Amino acid sequence: MVADRTPRAAPATQPPFGVATRNVDAFEKLEQIGEGTYGQVYKARSRDDGAIVALKKIRMTKDQEKDGFPITALREIKILNALRHENIVLLREIVTSAASEANKGKGSIYMVFEFMDHDLTGLMDYQHSAPFSVAQIKCYLRQLLNGLHFCHMNKVLHRDIKGANLLINNRGQLKLADFGLARTFDDQARAYTNRCVTLWYRPPELLLGATLYGPEVDLWSVGCVFGEMLQRKPALPGKDEADQLDLICRLCGMPDERSWPGVSRLPFYDKLVDRRGTYHEQPHHAHARPLVAKLSRTVPDAAALDLLNSLLTLDPQARASCATALDHDYFRIEPLPAQPSELPTYKSSHEFNRKKRQAQHAAAAGQGAHAGRDGGGGGGRDGGGGGGGGGAPGAQSAVAGAGEAAGAKRARSDASHGLGRSAGSAGSARAAVGAGASVGGKAQPPPFSSIVPPPRQRHG
Ligand SMILES: Nc1ncnc2c1ncn2[C@@H]1O[C@H](COP(=O)(O)OP(=O)(O)OP(=O)(O)O)[C@@H](O)[C@H]1O
Ligand SMILES: [Mg+2]
Repeated sequence: MVADRTPRAAPATQPPFGVATRNVDAFEKLEQIGEGTYGQVYKARSRDDGAIVALKKIRMTKDQEKDGFPITALREIKILNALRHENIVLLREIVTSAASEANKGKGSIYMVFEFMDHDLTGLMDYQHSAPFSVAQIKCYLRQLLNGLHFCHMNKVLHRDIKGANLLINNRGQLKLADFGLARTFDDQARAYTNRCVTLWYRPPELLLGATLYGPEVDLWSVGCVFGEMLQRKPALPGKDEADQLDLICRLCGMPDERSWPGVSRLPFYDKLVDRRGTYHEQPHHAHARPLVAKLSRTVPDAAALDLLNSLLTLDPQARASCATALDHDYFRIEPLPAQPSELPTYKSSHEFNRKKRQAQHAAAAGQGAHAGRDGGGGGGRDGGGGGGGGGAPGAQSAVAGAGEAAGAKRARSDASHGLGRSAGSAGSARAAVGAGASVGGKAQPPPFSSIVPPPRQRHG
């Protein structure tokens, strides 16, 4: 008899690494600290040596359970393994749990990370009572740029830079986390999905439908995070993709061929021009710097504003890179960036607890769960195509499954928590609007994506 040599997918919930993984029982779960699109995150203690870690459980969709291991998690593990840097979170190991009845006869897979006391979104809550000092903001921003520079030098785009994905410990170290949407790039002009980056941090080229892009997308998000630290509120909290573009144009001016060569060829530029808004009267001119004029009262630091302006530059080709941003005078003039060890320490705070606190406050104040525009700290991450990219075609459909499920989940949870975020993706925004979602009690206008062609192919 001839042996059946048909290649088979790895059995569900078994990581296809070909190496032994320890059981999750090696850790004692202490508390949940995160609820992400792709799984829950727990603080846990190693039973061996008492080390405190973060366990990120990998969420499986039905399809992935059949087909094998989720491609998004595989990509995250592969990229994190290749990126060892003091400003990138350390992935220590992968652990598994045996199939159990409680888990419907399935096992689970967890990534084990070094534990970080805070994420930046959680920490920014403290800004209401004790604003970050200038030296502190410089210290965080420099570490963020250092970590991201290392990613870009190693040809990795992060594609989801935002406060909740920037982890900080009580030694003042900041580390990039959540590489679930990251992907590698090369110098070939390749089309990638534009369904990535959480809405409030998403650059104008992606909102206008660009599929050829590079590290500049992450630098726009850095600008949004920097603006948020300076102003103590989200820089561009759009309700949906159309509103996001409106906010960007109001702050930076309306892009045109003079300020951004090639912009008029982007798929949704005409839609933007069609939309009526006051910013139409204020075309962006390269030397007019509308952002600087608008923010000079709230951000009186001229060097900070100049750096912010170079990060939040509409034309991706003219936007600062990590290297040019790190070389900016902002980091050389007094007060100099603090050393991480000099920074204050705080009680542990993550976006997850912040949301819980906000929901409790809102309930106590009798406002239902509508926390308002500034409360969410994120804007919807693209569920629909955000995880897309790379891999084999079969793998891509696995991504689509994961992404869409995640997008719908995000839309539901945002709508029900009233966090003032639109689901930032076509998939999730449509789910929210289709389900009659309301934000802050108001019906939402149709998202930009509903007036432009529906999902294109996933390019990754
Ligand atoms: N190593 C860690 N130490 C402490 N907290 C962590 C760690 N990793 C993640 N978290 C917390 O868990 C949250 C969710 O983790 P992560 O962003 O990696 O998951 P995700 O499923 O991709 O999330 P999302 O879809 O919300 O972006 C983070 O925002 C952070 O608050
Ligand atoms: Mg995250």
